[in-house]
Amino acid sequence: MKITIVGAGNVGATTAQRIIDNELANEVVLVDIVEGIPQGKGLDMYEATPITGVDVKVIGTNGYEETANSDIIIITAGVARKPGMSREDLLNTNFGIVKEATLKSIEKSPNAIIIVVTNPLDVMAYTAWRISGFERHRVIGMAGVLDTARFRTFIAMELNVSVEDVYAFVLGGHGDDMVPLVRYTTVAGIPISELLPKEKIEQLVKRTREGGAEIVSYLKTGSAYYAPSAAIVEMVESIVKDKKRILPCSVLLQGEYGLNDVFVGVPVKLGKKGVEEIIELKLTDEEKQALHASASRVKKIIDSLKF
Ligand code: NAI
Repeated sequence: MKITIVGAGNVGATTAQRIIDNELANEVVLVDIVEGIPQGKGLDMYEATPITGVDVKVIGTNGYEETANSDIIIITAGVARKPGMSREDLLNTNFGIVKEATLKSIEKSPNAIIIVVTNPLDVMAYTAWRISGFERHRVIGMAGVLDTARFRTFIAMELNVSVEDVYAFVLGGHGDDMVPLVRYTTVAGIPISELLPKEKIEQLVKRTREGGAEIVSYLKTGSAYYAPSAAIVEMVESIVKDKKRILPCSVLLQGEYGLNDVFVGVPVKLGKKGVEEIIELKLTDEEKQALHASASRVKKIIDSLKF
């Protein structure tokens, strides 16, 4: 298993570290445009492996030669948010970066599965799919696993229970209009509506929607990367080990949920082929409306792009 990570910044490097520590690949390649950064970080990670006891070869590079025949390509290259910026503010810069990263990666690894992380997420995942010409099951955007993890954390904090017992689902675009599905949220099987008053749940939903901005407001110089990298690795693990986990991911919809030609977060089954199934939940009218509103915002941005 060979995994390439494009972008050796906060998210990319932390993802590499987690993949190496969990021995999810025997070769990890870090690519970045800044000279020295991927080489230095990659070598540093490689030098940790005799201590941690994992057999993973780590290469850092500014080119794509060494990425050849990767099974998975994770695109984290781009700029991240600063305080006051929305994910859409990153659009123009990151559009060019994701286009380039996709083209150069697939030239060397035409059979890879691409996981897109760069924001604005759903639009960048669409970009990678469109530019690569790959079948839709091989291009997946990471957002829902992170948004769901945030929601689960806030619920666990509120109830003072283990995060492991909190189960939740967040659908929709990775933006302020994401759709946390309260109806499917349980604590050890108990519906959240039986454990918390409606107003409290709404507060936690709001905090989840603003979860990314909350971290940006603390860090000031960048955005979150510990939870995002953990979310990426949960997806990678399901693909590498063919676990067939059901995880919320941004995928191209072609009729599912009444939506077409747009990337948006829905539950999917992830296995060795990538997206092996798109799960269609029976949504209430209100939930469907919220998902469609979120998707139409993504679609509007997609339509403004020049491919
Ligand atoms: P960062 O600034 O720490 O790292 C980005 C890296 O990309 C830098 O090292 C930069 O040199 C590199 N880069 C820029 N242009 C490149 C190119 N053409 N080729 C190769 N490398 C290039 O940023 P961070 O925090 O790692 O975030 C990366 C991206 O991930 C941002 O767009 C951020 O908004 C997004 N993100 C998405 C999340 C999600 O839920 N989908 C969660 C967290 C971050």
